[in-house]
Amino acid sequence: MSKDQELRRAAFEEVEKHQDLVEADPYRLHYHIMPPVGLLNDPNGWIQWNGTYHLFYQWMPFKTGHGAKFWGHYSSEDLVNWTHEDIALTPSEWFEKNGCYSGSAIEHNGELYAFYTGNVKDEKGNRESYQCLAVSEDGIHFDKKGPVVHLPEGYTAHFRDPKVWKQDGSYFMVVGAQTEDLKGAVALLQSEDLHEWTHVGVLAGGGEGPLGDFGYMFECPDLFNLGGEDVLVFSPQGLDSEGMKYQNVYQAGYVVGAFDSQNGRYEHRAFYELDHGFDFYAPQTTEDEHGRRILFGWMSVPDQDEQNHPTVNHHWLHNMTLPREMKLVDGRVYQTPVSELEELREDSVVERRLELDHETHEVEGVNGKAVELKLEDINIYEGWFALEIGGSARLVYSSEQRIFTMERESYVDGVVEKRQTEVASLNDLHIFIDTSSVEVFVNGGAHVFTARFYPAPNNESIQFTASDKTTLTLKKWDLRKVF
Ligand code: FRU
Repeated sequence: MSKDQELRRAAFEEVEKHQDLVEADPYRLHYHIMPPVGLLNDPNGWIQWNGTYHLFYQWMPFKTGHGAKFWGHYSSEDLVNWTHEDIALTPSEWFEKNGCYSGSAIEHNGELYAFYTGNVKDEKGNRESYQCLAVSEDGIHFDKKGPVVHLPEGYTAHFRDPKVWKQDGSYFMVVGAQTEDLKGAVALLQSEDLHEWTHVGVLAGGGEGPLGDFGYMFECPDLFNLGGEDVLVFSPQGLDSEGMKYQNVYQAGYVVGAFDSQNGRYEHRAFYELDHGFDFYAPQTTEDEHGRRILFGWMSVPDQDEQNHPTVNHHWLHNMTLPREMKLVDGRVYQTPVSELEELREDSVVERRLELDHETHEVEGVNGKAVELKLEDINIYEGWFALEIGGSARLVYSSEQRIFTMERESYVDGVVEKRQTEVASLNDLHIFIDTSSVEVFVNGGAHVFTARFYPAPNNESIQFTASDKTTLTLKKWDLRKVF
C-alpha cells in the first residue's frame, strides 16, 4: 500500500471509529461545515467550478490538535447542502510530510489547479516550506506535481498559504510570509503558465508603509478586486491589543488600495478587522459564477485555548463560518450571509412589532437551537438594548456610548468576556444561532461578530431587555438541519 493509501485508510477508520461519539454531541452544528472527526481549520481551494462549489479545508483526522494536515473536501450545488467528498490531499510525500498546508484553487484549461504549502520539519525542528501544485480533472482526485516555488531570498521558512489568480493575461500568487528581520509580509510572485514562478517582491508589510510595524507574520493573504478597488485580506500575528481592537490572540482583516499588475506594486490604506467577535481567522474568498465575492472564515483562532472547547470530548473541533457575500461601501467591507441561506428556513415565521421597557421579555415562539433572527427598524429611545441567547451569550447596544458589545461565558472558566466595537447608531441586526455558534451582522453587514458559545443544551431561550424604551420589528425562523 502506498503512503497515500495508508493515510486515507487510517483517516477513514478514524471517522468510522468515532462517528457515534461525534454525532451524540449536543453541540454538533446543524448548518455549518464541520469535520466528520478531528480538527478543522482554514478554508482552502475555495472555488465554484463548472457550477459546483468546492470548499477544501485543513483537516487533522487523527486528533483534535494540529499536525500534518490533510485537505478535506466538501462540495455543494447551492451553498446550503454539502457533500463530504473523498480526501483531496494527504501529507504523503517528502515535500509535504508535515502537512499539506493552506492554499487555493484556480481553473486552467478545463482542469482544477490546487496550490498549497508543503510543510516539512526535520528532526531538529527546522522548517522548510514548498509551494506545491496538484492538478485534478474531476475536482475530486488530484495528481501531485510537487513543489513549484522554493523559498525566495529575504524570508524565513514561515512562508505559506499561496492564493493564485489571473489578471491582465498573467498569473499572480500572494504568499503569507515573514521577512528575515521578522516582520509580517505578503510576498508577490508571477507566472505565465502556473508552473514557473518568479518572485516579484514584498507586496505589503515587511516593515514598510501603512503596515510598517504590524506583527511578525502574515498568514493566508488574498488579493481581489471589489467594487473598483483592490482589497487585500490577511491574518496578521503579533499585534498588541489597542483599545477595542485586536482582542483575540491573532487577527484577520483587510486593507483597501490599488494593485498595479504591471510593476507588481500595491498602494493601500489602513487595516480593519473583518470580524469583531471571538472566533474568526484565516478567511478565504472566491468570485462565483454570479460575480459575487464570497468569503468563508474559520470559526476559531489558532492557540486560543483550543483544547478547552467541550466538543473535544466528542472527538471533533471547530467549524467554518457561513458563506458571506462581500461588498465595498465607502472604502469599507460589508459582509452579508448569502441569500441562498433562506433555503434553510422552515415554513413557520414569527413576525412581531416589539415595544420593550425595562423588563426582560420572551416572545412566544421565539427560541430554539438553530434559529435565524432579523431585528429591523430598531429604535432605542434611551439607554441600552440587549438580547440574551441560551443564557450564555449576550448582545448589547448602548445608545449613549455608541458601542456594540458581544458577551459570552468563557468556555475555559465560565467568566463573562466581551468584544466590542463602535457603532454610531443601531438600525438592524441579522443573527444566525446554531446550537453552539452565533454570527451577528450589524447594520446591513457593516460590522460582524462571530463566536462559539456553549449554552446548557436544554436552554433554548432568547430574551430581550431594554434599559428604557426600545421598539423594533422582529422576525424569526427555525432553520433546517443539513449536517
Ligand atoms: C492558519 C494556518 C496557515 C497554515 C495552516 C496550517 O490557521 O496556520 O498559515 O497553512 O493554518 O494548518
